[in-house]
Parts: sequence; C-alpha cells; structure tokens
Amino acid sequence: MGSKIYRDKDVNLDILKNKTIAVLGYGIQGGPQAQCLRDSGLKVIVGAGPREQFPDWDKAKKDGFTVMPIDEATRKGDVVHVLLADPVQPTVYKEAIHSNLRPNCTLSFCHGFNVLYGGIVPPENVNVVLFVPNAPGHLVREKFLSGSGIYGAVAVDRDVTGDALNIILALAKGAGSTRVGVVEISFQEETEGDNFEEQVLYGGTIHLMKAVFETMVKNGYNPYFAYAKAIRSLRSVVDVMDETGIEEYISKLSSRTCEFAVRTNGPRVINYNEIQKIFEETERGDFATRWMQEWQLGLPHLHRMRRTGADSEMEKIGKEWRKQFGEG
Ligand SMILES: NC(=O)c1ccc[n+]([C@@H]2O[C@H](COP(=O)([O-])OP(=O)(O)OC[C@H]3O[C@@H](n4cnc5c(N)ncnc54)[C@H](OP(=O)(O)O)[C@@H]3O)[C@@H](O)[C@H]2O)c1
Repeated sequence: MGSKIYRDKDVNLDILKNKTIAVLGYGIQGGPQAQCLRDSGLKVIVGAGPREQFPDWDKAKKDGFTVMPIDEATRKGDVVHVLLADPVQPTVYKEAIHSNLRPNCTLSFCHGFNVLYGGIVPPENVNVVLFVPNAPGHLVREKFLSGSGIYGAVAVDRDVTGDALNIILALAKGAGSTRVGVVEISFQEETEGDNFEEQVLYGGTIHLMKAVFETMVKNGYNPYFAYAKAIRSLRSVVDVMDETGIEEYISKLSSRTCEFAVRTNGPRVINYNEIQKIFEETERGDFATRWMQEWQLGLPHLHRMRRTGADSEMEKIGKEWRKQFGEG
C-alpha cells in the first residue's frame, strides 16, 4: 500500500468480463453503482430483500435489472457487492449471504465497519475487498454520465485468489472512479476515517452553525439574519475553497477583514484536545461500541435528540426562512 493514484490506464476491466457482479441492495449507493457498472459493459444482477417489504426490488426491476432474493444473487455472484444499509448487514449476512458465497469469489463492501468490528466474519476462502466513492450515490451517477467520476478508495482485507486488488480496482473503474483517481487504503483506515470525519467535521460544523445562530439570537439579533449567517454563508465558501484551496480563498477571494478574522480568532473556536480524544476513542473502537449498542436498543438517544432538534427555534426559523427567502 502506498501513495499511488490509480487511473483508467492503470486498471484493466477485463478481469470482470464474463463475471457476474451481484449488487446486494438498490439504495443510495446500490442503484447508481449498479447502473454505472452495467453501462461499463459488466454483467450486473441485483439482490434485494423480500419484494413486498422492500420497494427497492421494484425500483431495480423498473431500471431493467434482473432482481432476485439476496441468497440467490449471492450464489450467482463472482463478485458479491454488499450495498445494504450498514446496521442490517450482519443479520442479512448471517441469514442469506454467508453460506451462499462460492469459494474464491469476491465479497466486496462500500464501508469497512462490519468487517472491522466483527459483525461480519467472511469465510476464509473468499476475497474480502472494499470500494468507496467519496460522494453520495446520485453524484456518482451524475458524474459518470457526464464522462467524469468521483474520487474513491479501495481496500483489500483478504486476497485468496492473488488478484483481489485488480478485481476491486476494476469495480472502481466500472463505477467511473478511476477516471478521476483511486487510492488504496485499509479497511481500518476507511472505517475509522469515516467515523472520525462524521463526528468531528459533520458533528462539529453542524453544532457550530447552531452555536452561531443561538448566540446571535440570544443577544438580540433578528433570527432571520442570524439564520442566514449561520447556514447560508457557508454554502458558496466551501465550494470556492474546494476549487481553489483554503489559502487562495482566504488571502485573495475573501475580504481583508474576513482574512484577519479567520486567521486570528478562528483557532480559538477549535478544541484540538477534544479532536485528538475523539480520534483516539474512534481508534479504540469506543465509538463503534456505543453506536452498535444504540442500534441494538432501538435508537433511544437518536429518537430523543431528533425530537429536541425538530422543536428547536432554529429549525422553526429555518422553515420560515426558506418559505420567505427561498433560494435568495
Ligand atoms: N449513502 C452514501 O452516500 C454512502 C457513501 C459511501 C458509502 N456508503 C456505504 O454504502 C453502503 C450502502 O449504503 P446506502 O446509503 O446505499 O444504504 P441505504 O440506501 O440506506 O440502503 C441500502 C439498501 O438496503 C436495503 N435494506 C435495508 N434493510 C434491509 C433488509 N433488512 N434486508 C434487505 N435489504 C435491506 C434497502 O432497501 P429499501 O430501500 O427497499 O428499504 C436499500 O436497498 C453502506 O455500507 C454505506 O456505508 C454509503
């Protein structure tokens, strides 16, 4: 594993020719990835939960796929690409996937959580790999159709056939990602990196927005003005920084007052010790343990917090803000 960037010219799709890719689940990632793989000339079938219970069965059928129960698709798959929702994967895996995997087939994931933490323990005689594009499924599809792709990562946890890396790179190519670039990481890095990002970047940013709104309103500001400051302002700035880099944005494209504010007082808001602590908790598996417990208990904390969040002044102002100012 190194810093090599795999692009189209480095990856041969032929390794998947005459092979059947069984995409299990036709949701946010499953639908778009299945369609891109098919458009790349690969043979794709879809495995879904019972038709009367899971509407995605009919969605896949409507999109022209051969759809079948998960156990049957697994038996037919040379590559079994598990795109089921993470929390249900261990149960579905035990019931319908494990005993139906053919020796020397490739079991592939889009997130390493269940393999890393033992919710899924694959048999010794199959490849275990991962491909993740760095975007939600609809963008994977949109970029693919426009002739581009989404930067992605692959990982190999077990290589029994000697070509597991080439197989998962070919899958990444079929989904369009090697048009842009794909790097190799480990299951552990993918999982912990993802969990770390969700806690610190998403969690931190969302709570920062709330703190900006609440502080301004508490100090007498017009709540519509505070709402726009807390949320809308970030929108264009993030896109510009993504396109030009942070330094170019701060030193050239923002105002000098903004530059001074960012450089001097921005760091005061960040608690580096807590970020390091969250990183360590994530590495120790503490976050995964708490999340699995929460899931098994029926999400009591999430239900409670959703209720409080929906009742908050910021949410109410947000609804009104969108009605009054729309896209403005
Ligand atoms: N969402 C993203 O943008 C994203 C990004 C990177 C990686 N990933 C990874 O991609 C994988 C799939 O995630 P996702 O977001 O695409 O999931 P999702 O849309 O929430 O669900 C995927 C599929 O799972 C099916 N499903 C749920 N419960 C089931 C059950 N008990 N039996 C059979 N099928 C069941 C759903 O069917 P119904 O819809 O019919 O209920 C749906 O087709 C995960 O490993 C995730 O971490 C996702």
